[in-house]
Amino acid sequence: MKKTLLSLLAVVTCAYSAPALASGGTEAPPHVHWEFSGPFGTYDRAALQRGLKIYREVCSSCHAVKHLAFRNLTDLGYNEEQVKAIAAEYTVTDGPDEDGEMFERPARPSDRFPSPYPNENAAKAANGVAPPDLSLIVKARHHGANHVFGILTGYEEAPEDHPLADGQHWNKYMPGHVIAMAKPLSNGQVTYEDGTIETVEQYAQDVAQFLAWASEPDLEARKRFGISALIFLAVFAGVMYRLKKAVWKDVH
Ligand code: HEC
Repeated sequence: MKKTLLSLLAVVTCAYSAPALASGGTEAPPHVHWEFSGPFGTYDRAALQRGLKIYREVCSSCHAVKHLAFRNLTDLGYNEEQVKAIAAEYTVTDGPDEDGEMFERPARPSDRFPSPYPNENAAKAANGVAPPDLSLIVKARHHGANHVFGILTGYEEAPEDHPLADGQHWNKYMPGHVIAMAKPLSNGQVTYEDGTIETVEQYAQDVAQFLAWASEPDLEARKRFGISALIFLAVFAGVMYRLKKAVWKDVH
């Protein structure tokens, strides 16, 4: 019995340490203090709007966010007119029309963000490796938003004993260090209208928070529900305790 327990423990330990080994000893990304973490955390609307700007002006030339529709942007604090205006800046393919032809039209709030490439092969041909869809990336990566922040801020010169091929870049937080994405952000690249500093770290933090929201838009509602459930349980436990005392009063 003891042996079985020990081997079970060994299996569990191996299973947990496997991802660390598989990543080739890559450093864990920095731990950012996110407004949305913890039981009472909420997204920072201003950061989300800045993150959307970074996505639109920089990342969207290579990465899709195919699960995101324009109307979801009301969550970021935009009103319906503003969402309409943002959508109308994009063109989507619709159809077929009466003649069986596909046609292009300005996007509407109910449309999803159009992808930069028509298909996976085109995305791969243009970049060497197809840039992954970013709408669920924060959920798909072990370190979540910290991973996205780490990748965007983790570019370094490759060590001399590790020459890079064309189209390869060195990133200390990428598992295996080699990444096909060139450093996408530099200081001052995107203009912020709200006076926030325009540094790579700030851009990375804002776009990572935006992508966290895209991965989990109902996180706040879920937390609110959890808190109400806890309050309910606490009150219910109190009532039951008094009831129990009342019922057993004469027996004791
Ligand atoms: C010029 C094209 C291009 C731009 C612009 C670009 N990326 Fe990428 N990105 C890529 C490619 C290609 C990959 C795949 C890299 C690989 O797997 O080696 C990638 C991978 C990633 C990854 C995944 C890393 C992983 O864990 O596998 C993240 C996260 C990411 N990009 C975020 C962003 C963000 C955020 C922006 C905007 C600030 C951005 N990218 C801009 C091309 C681009």
